[in-house]
Amino acid sequence: MERFIIEESGPLRGRVRISGSKNSVLPIIAATLLTDEECIIHDVPLLTDVLTMQNLIEDLGGRASWDNDANLAIRVSDIKKIQASYELCAKMRASFLVAGPILARMGEVKISLPGGCAIGSRPVDLHLKGLAALGAEISQEHGYVSARAKKLVGANIYLDFPSVGATENIMMAAALAEGQTIIQNCAVEPEIVDLSNFLTSMGAQIRGSGTDTIRIQGVNKLSGTNHNVIPDRIEAGTFMVAAAISRGEIFLENVVTDHLKPAIAKLREVGVEIEESEEGLNVKSGSLRRPIDIKTLPYPGFPTDMQAQFVAFLATTPGTNLVTETVFENRFMHVPELVRMGADIKIDSRSAIIEGVEKLAGTQVKASDLRAGAALMLAALTAAGTTEIHDIYHIDRGYYRFDQKLRQLGGKITRVNG
Ligand code: EPZ
Repeated sequence: MERFIIEESGPLRGRVRISGSKNSVLPIIAATLLTDEECIIHDVPLLTDVLTMQNLIEDLGGRASWDNDANLAIRVSDIKKIQASYELCAKMRASFLVAGPILARMGEVKISLPGGCAIGSRPVDLHLKGLAALGAEISQEHGYVSARAKKLVGANIYLDFPSVGATENIMMAAALAEGQTIIQNCAVEPEIVDLSNFLTSMGAQIRGSGTDTIRIQGVNKLSGTNHNVIPDRIEAGTFMVAAAISRGEIFLENVVTDHLKPAIAKLREVGVEIEESEEGLNVKSGSLRRPIDIKTLPYPGFPTDMQAQFVAFLATTPGTNLVTETVFENRFMHVPELVRMGADIKIDSRSAIIEGVEKLAGTQVKASDLRAGAALMLAALTAAGTTEIHDIYHIDRGYYRFDQKLRQLGGKITRVNG
């Protein structure tokens, strides 16, 4: 199994280009199932999760090809089966996003219930509630869910929680339903808006994305399209923390600063200097002066996907910091690993109480999920001595060339096999 060997690297300095958003491109690839025409998606990060979603589309009958500029062309002339591959679905929870499109195009779908993962049980009840509201007959057995509907019919759907995935699945199914669908209390993340823009460019009639109520007027057919994926706000936030934790200075290219407000606000509160310009964002570690409190919330609140990186950073800033995780029930798996590196962090129910220490110390640690892995890499770059990070496949799932980008900024990272 591959692992990273990371030496104390000093302040990270330089420029980094942020890649296209993983959490935008995954539902967009699923949405290519809604048309028999070609879709070309630009600035697609070559991640294992993206390849898994591509393989899922190919297994269903689609054809996909990349050019050497990160442009991915997909055409699903026919969907040749209504059952999504168990092996591929088991690799990645986001595979469940093909359910809505297959149901909308084929009138039925059979897909394995996604397992839980390190950060939580990850149920899909809200996805199924939405598809049932559109007229699908849902049944579950032996770990599979089947949904059937001769014709999907628009409905009013209220989401008990503004689930990103449920909003996306319902939006995609409703795009080809008969009549109007209204999704209330839906997710408002930038990735929802990006998917909505992709669907609209295919001919879907969608209004209100980015607000808590989305209205979709179903159409009979959707066409192929061309689409540029928005920059990955979580990768951007991760590099912002890289500058802060290493006491360095990094310029981020290809960012939408509007998507980064919580991270910008919280880093400024600690004393990090952030300058916004047309070209991008300059992040410079100032005199870190004061402890902060963070509470993760659905967008536009502080993103849960940035929590682990901030916990690693606050582990080495002065004072007592409080970080509360409200979105997932088990998203502090990075904490015991940071404590092994000398961090002073206590978990009290859904909160981490972090007493900043002078310096962490390198040792052997393990990535439990993608963002925890990224957090450990940032901690390792600034810890004394050498750190070995195991299970780094989690990191490769969601960060495009993360180790190369960090090396270009001065990170002393070696990827070793075995
Ligand atoms: C998306 O996951 C992201 N993944 C996650 O990013 C992100 O953490 C999450 O949204 C929240 O922002 C992708 O976009 C591929 P949710 P998703 O449905 O759609 C509960 C990363 O690191 N819930 O908004 O699965 C659920 O248990 C990943 O890039 C239900 O109860 O998130 C959780 O507590 C990790 N029933 C909460 O909602 C449902 O039917 C948020 O889940 C669905 C969700």
